Amino acid sequence: MPQSPVSAVPATTRHAALGAACGLVHADADAFDADDYLRRILTARVYDVARETPLDLAPALSARLGHQVWLKREDHQPVFSFKVRGAYNKMASLPAEALARGVITASAGNHAQGVALSAARLGVRAVIVVPQTAPQVKVDAVRAHGGEMVEVVQAGESYSEAYDHAMALQREQALTFIPAFDDPEVIAGQGTVGMEILRQHRGALDAVFVPIGGGSLAAGVAAYVKAVRPEVQVIGVQTEDSCAMARSLAAGERVTLDSVGLFSDGTAVKRVGEETFRLCRHLLDGVLTVDTDALCAAIKDIFQDTRSLVEPAGALALAGLKQYAAGLPQDARQALVAITSGANMNFDRLRIVAERAEAVEAAAR
Ligand SMILES: Cc1ncc(COP(=O)(O)O)c(C=O)c1O
Repeated sequence: MPQSPVSAVPATTRHAALGAACGLVHADADAFDADDYLRRILTARVYDVARETPLDLAPALSARLGHQVWLKREDHQPVFSFKVRGAYNKMASLPAEALARGVITASAGNHAQGVALSAARLGVRAVIVVPQTAPQVKVDAVRAHGGEMVEVVQAGESYSEAYDHAMALQREQALTFIPAFDDPEVIAGQGTVGMEILRQHRGALDAVFVPIGGGSLAAGVAAYVKAVRPEVQVIGVQTEDSCAMARSLAAGERVTLDSVGLFSDGTAVKRVGEETFRLCRHLLDGVLTVDTDALCAAIKDIFQDTRSLVEPAGALALAGLKQYAAGLPQDARQALVAITSGANMNFDRLRIVAERAEAVEAAAR
C-alpha cells in the first residue's frame, strides 16, 4: 500500500496525517450520488469538439523513476487543453432560448478558449472576461477560436476579479453564465478524461494524478474512476502558492486565499467551487503541493519524453507524481498516470523554465 499524500500539512508529517488532517474519507457517502455523475459522464457531449487524446507511456521517466509513467495527453486537444470538454458539454445542454440570448464566462484563459470554440461550433454569441494577467497566447487564441461570435473583455488581476466583472455583465445583458469549474455539466465533461484513461489502460493501475485549480477536472475524473475502479488512487496536485483545494480540504470547508501565485496561471484560483469541493472531499485520496522548481523540472521531463512543451499547469500532475513516487518503496513498480492538462504557454516563459529546471538538476548532482 503506497503512502498517501495530504497537502497543507508539512511534508514530514504529510503521509502519516492522511485522513485525520484532511477528512478525506471515501466511506462518507452523505448526499453523494455516484451514479448521477457516472450517468452524466457517460452521456456527456464532448466529441463534437474534443478529441479522445492518447495515453502515452513516458519511457525515459519510467526508467528513471522505476515505475510505469503514463501521460494523458490533453495538450493534444484542438484548444491545447482539456477545458473544451466541460465548456462544450455545458453549452450543448442549454435550452435553445438561453443559447439564443448568448453566453458569458470568466476564465484564466483555457476555459475561455473552450467556450470560444464551442460558441463558434454552436453558432452562439459569447462574451469572455479574461484577467489582465492572462498570457497573451491565451487571449489571442480565444479570439482566433471564437472568431466573430466572441467578444473578449480583459478585467481584473486574477480569475476571481474577472469573475466578479463577468457576473455584473451577465446581469446587465441577461446572458447565460458558463462556469469554468463549479457546475455538474462542466465537471461531467471533464470527467470524460477519466473515462478515456480507464478505457485506454485496462491493466493494473495504481494512481491517477490530476492538477487542481477550481477543481472540475479532479472532481470529474475522481467521480468516474472511483465509480468504476475504486481501488485506483486519485490524487490532486496544486502549487504551494495556489493551493485553495488543499487548504479547504484540511479545514473541512472552503477557504478563500488572500493571494495566489501566477506562475501556474491555469490553476491560480483563490476559492474552489462548492460542488467541486463536495466531490473532491468525498472522492480524492489526497492532494499534494509542489513548488515552482518542481514544475519547471516536470515541464522538462515531459519535453524529453515527448518533444512537446506543456504550460506550468499542464506539468503539475507529473510534478506531483514524481513527488509521490519518491516516497514509494524502491521495488513497488507502480503504474501511474499524470494528466498533462494544457500547453498554452507564452514563449517568453521558456527561459525561466529552462533556467529553473537546470538549477534543479545542478542541485541534484
Ligand atoms: C492547463 C490547466 N490545467 C489544470 C487546470 C485546472 O482545472 P480545474 O479548474 O478544473 O481544477 C486548468 C484550469 O483552467 C488548466 O487550464
